[in-house]
Amino acid sequence: MINVVLCGGNGTRLWPLSRTLYPKQFIKILSDQSLFQMTILRNKPFCSKTVVVSNEEQYFLALDHLREIKVEADRFILEPIGRNTAPAIALACLSVHKDELVMVTPSDHIVKNETEYARCINKAEMLANNNHLVTFGITPYYPETGYGYIESDGVEVISFKEKPDKMTAEKYIDRGNFYWNSGMFMFKAGVFLNELEQHAPEIYKRSLIAFEESQLHYDTVRVQKEHMESIPSNSIDYAVMENSQSVKMVPSDIGWSDLGSFESLYEELPKDENFNTISDNYLGIDSAHNLIFSEDRTIATVDVDDLIVVDTPDALLIAKQGSSQKVKEIVGELTNKN
Ligand code: GDD
Ligand code: MG
Repeated sequence: MINVVLCGGNGTRLWPLSRTLYPKQFIKILSDQSLFQMTILRNKPFCSKTVVVSNEEQYFLALDHLREIKVEADRFILEPIGRNTAPAIALACLSVHKDELVMVTPSDHIVKNETEYARCINKAEMLANNNHLVTFGITPYYPETGYGYIESDGVEVISFKEKPDKMTAEKYIDRGNFYWNSGMFMFKAGVFLNELEQHAPEIYKRSLIAFEESQLHYDTVRVQKEHMESIPSNSIDYAVMENSQSVKMVPSDIGWSDLGSFESLYEELPKDENFNTISDNYLGIDSAHNLIFSEDRTIATVDVDDLIVVDTPDALLIAKQGSSQKVKEIVGELTNKN
């Protein structure tokens, strides 16, 4: 089996921890390993090969992170611009034999229950070998609108809805037979490409041309800009998963989080008796429930609760716990300004 590691997002929701040139998957905040390194090591026991699909700007960063954990990727596919996950996965599938099993994983998530993870991968392999597109479903606990929802009896998929509005997400949670799509997938490369051709023929056709015209240098495939630009931008979720009749799901109680916000990061970090995150350079007096991160300076708080404080050399974020989804608006404003 081949692990396709998607490494092209820019994680605006964790600004200023993550930046365009230093996205979330390369941050070392939960341990001395980055999320990218944790992903590669997590999947290595199940996969004989690793294919990293990344933006060409992050190539050297990714190489550095691989060197640190003494792993070599078998192939890098470098995109000059991002076209979202459907083309990224298509390019990876085109680079391997059509009968190979492919496990697609984001590079910026965590999985805490490794035993259960192994069990789920095993189940998924059986389904994927039978020519299904396999998704990994997470039991949802609030109506998140940033996720895909899988309606399922536990294996069969009745429907797949990517990023529903708030009312629809609430309805799904009430109905009880919906799971969050974890963003990991397993299938035979050729099965995915057939489904893509059927449901998003333009993405398939343009990705094929882009791959055929790309430059292979040792293990590195560089896609040319004009060909990448001609591929319509869409995610695998909208382009394939919502439309395919071949999707199956493995319920995956694997301690998953996509660390999509500071609140979810706060959940995962160790905390002191006042529920402040623990760090050497933070001192809290009568303060509770604060997420404090500082690269360098000492931070102290007095009589304040429920804050998010993120200090980096060139930017300081102060936000209220619960409001951090608005952080991406800051990034939007800053991008407009520059
Ligand atoms: N190579 C490459 N190129 N990778 C990409 C690109 C691209 O253009 N765009 C995104 N990625 C990578 C991201 O780095 C991330 O690891 C993964 O693909 C998923 O992309 P996101 O942009 O994070 O997707 P999302 O969070 O909006 O939604 C997906 O994940 C949710 C769970 O976290 C969907 O699959 C949802 O259905 C799912 O619930
Ligand atoms: Mg995501």
